[in-house]
Amino acid sequence: MPATDRSVTEALHKRRSVRAFTGQPVDPALLKEIFAAAQRAPSGGNLQPWQVTVLTGEPWQAVKDEVAARIAMGREGQQPEYDIYPRELTEPWTDRRFGVGEALYASLGIPREDKRGRLARFMDNYRGFDAPVMLFLHCSRIMGPPQWSDMGMWLQSVMLLLVEHGLASCPQECWAMYGETVRRTLGLDDGQILFTGLAIGYADEGAAVNRWPVPRAPLGEVIDWQGF
Ligand SMILES: Cc1cc2nc3c(=O)[nH]c(=O)nc-3n(C[C@H](O)[C@H](O)[C@H](O)COP(=O)(O)O)c2cc1C
Repeated sequence: MPATDRSVTEALHKRRSVRAFTGQPVDPALLKEIFAAAQRAPSGGNLQPWQVTVLTGEPWQAVKDEVAARIAMGREGQQPEYDIYPRELTEPWTDRRFGVGEALYASLGIPREDKRGRLARFMDNYRGFDAPVMLFLHCSRIMGPPQWSDMGMWLQSVMLLLVEHGLASCPQECWAMYGETVRRTLGLDDGQILFTGLAIGYADEGAAVNRWPVPRAPLGEVIDWQGF
């Protein structure tokens, strides 16, 4: 069947992590519609463990300000919620991680030797790439890996629905490096754990950082067909 521009296939191909947004604000009614649809995401036991805080304007600025103060403290200011990557990451995952970083910085014309330039661009993360809306996805600390995977299904549902409505996003687990500060600023208690941010807005389609091809592993690396 041919894909229409509202098909899942179309949205999957169109979605990418967008790291430059226009200043165009996002209609909260549209976000509400998207979140209502994303409630259809599946979850083990129908727990629906995802809990979400969505910010714009002043509350969003407050998170940026609070986190900037922690960043200014250097390493001491970091408060990692969890290990973002396994400590013992090996191939093929190390190659994939390195590869995407290289392609990202190449799109910005920042060479490997320019460590300051790369760091400066990385720090754009903590402005949510100037997205007008920031969503924080968190859950109860009692939840385990199966429920974290449920959060991922919710997140992808939201990202695809955003694409369907002409919006763009960038998931941002970097905020978990300052988890306690983000949670405190959002008014969340210690019973919650922060998984990730999701920057939301309209893509700056002309920005080079939004235009490079993001590689994926060939199917042979990830799927083992048996009995076909
Ligand atoms: C849960 C999650 C957290 C992520 N955190 C960040 C982040 O902190 N900063 C960033 O620039 N990209 C982040 N990404 C984006 C990934 O780098 C990106 O999904 C991957 O390289 C594939 O590229 P694509 O999303 O453009 O297809 C994150 C993605 C996911 C799913």
